[in-house]
Amino acid sequence: MKQTTVTFQQAKQTGQKLSMLTAYDYSMAKLIDGAGVSAILVGDSLGMVMLGYDNTLSVTMEDMIHHTAAVARGAKNALVVADMPFLSYQISVEKAVRNAGRLIQEGHAEAVKLEGGSTVVPQVRAIVNASIPVMGHLGLTPQSVNAFGGYKVQGKTQEAAQKLLDDARALEEAGAFAIVLECVPAKLAQKVSKAISIPTIGIGAGAGCDGQVLVYQDMMGMFSDFTPKFVKRFGEIGQAMQSAVRDYVLAVEAGRFPSEEHTFSIDDDVLEKLY
Ligand code: KIV
Repeated sequence: MKQTTVTFQQAKQTGQKLSMLTAYDYSMAKLIDGAGVSAILVGDSLGMVMLGYDNTLSVTMEDMIHHTAAVARGAKNALVVADMPFLSYQISVEKAVRNAGRLIQEGHAEAVKLEGGSTVVPQVRAIVNASIPVMGHLGLTPQSVNAFGGYKVQGKTQEAAQKLLDDARALEEAGAFAIVLECVPAKLAQKVSKAISIPTIGIGAGAGCDGQVLVYQDMMGMFSDFTPKFVKRFGEIGQAMQSAVRDYVLAVEAGRFPSEEHTFSIDDDVLEKLY
């Protein structure tokens, strides 16, 4: 069944948990979509897991459009959500609406995600007013890594926890259809999830959220630079891929590949007439 922001809202009402995974290209999107996820996030995490940057700050609108369009071609049922990269929405409300529109028009996303709370409420309101669904993102917002002084759990003090709850309410009021909660204590995420009427999607935020999201390379064991505490490995695909490559190298080196079945033939007559 095609997943939309309406089915997200229904899931919140019925208590059906939502599953979201990242994807950045056509083949993975098709695979992930076929497995029945609720949503595919074209995250700006692509800067790290696909492009090899140290953080997400170098990702551009062009990167996001390029990868989102590939994912959209592969996703038939999942809701396609595209991240708005660093500086694509912080500068002005007008720029935010234009860039969100580009992700829809050129990237064929069905919704956009942006990071931040009360400070981005004007942007969220304006993008929603342009009929573009917005997913919020609170807690450890990776585009603020330099301001946070590293990748740290957020919302642990009374003041920070209250701010997170207030920000979630502000995003809901501005028209966001869902909110990602990243790296926040589980009990706080549960309290926020109960306090708002739109679904929360957790990553390192415990089981009390209305849904979960992971970066696919993390949960499939395909990214070894570092593994956050909240990642559960559901497969060891990285090892399986490396072992397939090793087998290929050995087969080529030993002359076992290609064999007859992978080879095209030609009439000997044709060859004999060559001069
Ligand atoms: O960029 C991303 O992949 C994300 C998820 C980790 C939520 O924002």
